[in-house]
Amino acid sequence: MVSLLGVQPASRVLEIGFGPGLAIAELVRAGAGHVTGIDHSGVMLRQASRRNAAAIRAGRVTLMRASVDQIPPALDGPFDAILAVNSLGFWPAPAERLAELRRRLAPGGRVAIASQPRCPGATADTSRSAAREIEDLLRGAGFTHLSTQTLRLTPPVACVLAASPGPSA
Ligand SMILES: C[S@@+](CC[C@H](N)C(=O)[O-])C[C@H]1O[C@@H](n2cnc3c(N)ncnc32)[C@H](O)[C@@H]1O
Repeated sequence: MVSLLGVQPASRVLEIGFGPGLAIAELVRAGAGHVTGIDHSGVMLRQASRRNAAAIRAGRVTLMRASVDQIPPALDGPFDAILAVNSLGFWPAPAERLAELRRRLAPGGRVAIASQPRCPGATADTSRSAAREIEDLLRGAGFTHLSTQTLRLTPPVACVLAASPGPSA
């Protein structure tokens, strides 16, 4: 996902639901200018903060405990990229959340939403259905230029990328 987003040294990136902070660390390794993350779990905040302690100290990463439906007013933005991995399925009213996140993207900014279905018996079909649901939600929230990539794990990971057409759209 991080490579698909094509982060640049000046990129400001937001991750929703960072969990143990693996993607945050990867974004730092990929050279993102600044990475912000929110997760509503205090346990995850502690784990991710430990994993990314050096980058937090260096001012390259800011992690906060917050739910996606109560994004702190102090959150910096706009963002060049926003990502969520296996998290959107837990969000309250995801359609509204995605519309709000779109408004936090810089013009031309990109979003990446990934899902690897974890339900018992999940197959490649389950991943395809998950991708279609994410695509519909993103279109409904006003995103454009959708493309879906699949990572061939078992079951596959579906990653839907989309762009913000800008504030006037
Ligand atoms: C299955 S874990 C995925 C963690 C991480 N993205 C990964 O792939 O390793 C889902 C994460 O989303 C977070 N989460 C769930 N609902 C959330 C919400 N409403 N706002 C922010 N984070 C949320 C959980 O606390 C958890 O860390």
